[in-house]
Amino acid sequence: MENKTATPSVCGTGAPSDGGTNTTSTNYLAQLQAVGQQLSDPVKVAQQQAAMIGKWMGAGSDQLPFYAELQAQAPVFQTPLFTIVTRYEDVMEAYNNNDVFTTGAFSAQITRDIGPFILAMKNTAEYERQKSILRLAVARTDADRIHALVTEESGKLLATYKAGDSFDLVAQYSRLLPALVVRRYLGVAEIPTEQIWQWSRSMFRDIFANLTQDPQLTKAAVASRDVAFPILDQLIESRRQYLDQQGADHDPVTVLDRLLIMQRTTTTALTNDEIRATILGTFVGMVDLTSIGIMVAAVQLMKRGMWDKAQAAAAQDDTALLGYVLEAMRFSPPAPGAFRLCEQDYVIAKGTDRQTALKAGTLVYVASVAAMQDPVYVDSPTEFRAGRPETAYLFWFSGLHTCLGQYFSQIQLTIALKGLLQLGHLQIVGPPTLEGGFPNNLPVKVV
Ligand code: HEM
Repeated sequence: MENKTATPSVCGTGAPSDGGTNTTSTNYLAQLQAVGQQLSDPVKVAQQQAAMIGKWMGAGSDQLPFYAELQAQAPVFQTPLFTIVTRYEDVMEAYNNNDVFTTGAFSAQITRDIGPFILAMKNTAEYERQKSILRLAVARTDADRIHALVTEESGKLLATYKAGDSFDLVAQYSRLLPALVVRRYLGVAEIPTEQIWQWSRSMFRDIFANLTQDPQLTKAAVASRDVAFPILDQLIESRRQYLDQQGADHDPVTVLDRLLIMQRTTTTALTNDEIRATILGTFVGMVDLTSIGIMVAAVQLMKRGMWDKAQAAAAQDDTALLGYVLEAMRFSPPAPGAFRLCEQDYVIAKGTDRQTALKAGTLVYVASVAAMQDPVYVDSPTEFRAGRPETAYLFWFSGLHTCLGQYFSQIQLTIALKGLLQLGHLQIVGPPTLEGGFPNNLPVKVV
């Protein structure tokens, strides 16, 4: 197939999804059928249908009505390029059946751009070893430190704003905050935030959002890699020398220090390349997704008239506020889904009326965004209900590759939103701008 189709979004953009109207049908399937009737050349039919589907699933579109129609009428939907899985049960089957559905859909791109990062790996003993080491380095017990870091950085960014002031919610806050926080948490605070932005976005686009293999996207990612690798290698080496001078008494609080100290013991050693890939992979995986999460949560709270209630929750405690943040993001998740490679002939949703045979080599788009709106699993999904059960939320996916930073993110998103809620009320005063599907700007005013 020629390079003619839009790529479905693998990052959310906070596109409006007003008032929970996602059951409204716009007859997407009928529109696709009409193309088949209008054109006689099957290649042109496939190209046009792929372009239409890519647009409905793409960044900047409200994807929910399309998925609602698929869920009701074609829950496992075969497009000319890939198969979309939309029901909660089937999404969980794809994420958790790790030997059948793998990250082989983009693993070669990860290895080329980032190096040996665990997200590219299959379900092996070596994967388990590396993820166990990373769980010690990115520990859930860091909660208090992460809370303090985000509170400090968020406080500095918002300190001067008062009623009547305008600022850019994305460029001056949501995109800056995660870069500032994560470089300190990882232990690479020397790297300028602009560089983190550039590396992470160019690599994210090439790895996760380059279905048509646009050579320009690959070129940009490879150029970032060629700058990033020597900088990171040098930082890692000089930190190793510092730690060697410190001796055994040094208490490692950053991820890099922990990985370097664990490297001294064979069973907990990652190679230098794996350490570098972990730092780079974390930048790629967390900066824009966190930025989108903060922006989406703020926009959805405003649009759905939930700002005051979220303010009250923020005054109560972080857990209450997290309930509002998660529910707000459910309507436009930062990572709305992912591609998986079906590695063997397989029947998904077997025994149901939607069971579908997938051939080995099929590309499957696992639509978490749709699963989080599945009325069979999520009670009244179009309603905003803070405090739903944890299982209603799939922002960090499920199964083997579940996000290592899930708990980190929950703290960061909560504290980031708390800072905004404490300013008072925000009003959107200008259009959002996107670059390659990622939000860059959203002018707001404190009122
Ligand atoms: C809102 C913020 C974030 C979101 C939405 C997010 C989302 C995700 C998702 C969906 C995956 C799985 C990708 C897949 O299976 O295809 C993932 C993996 C990963 N994330 Fe995150 N993430 C976030 C923040 C973070 C943070 C803060 C860290 C680290 C401090 C992190 C580190 C990782 C790592 C290392 C993986 C790979 C895990 C593996 O392969 O086993 N992420 N993330």
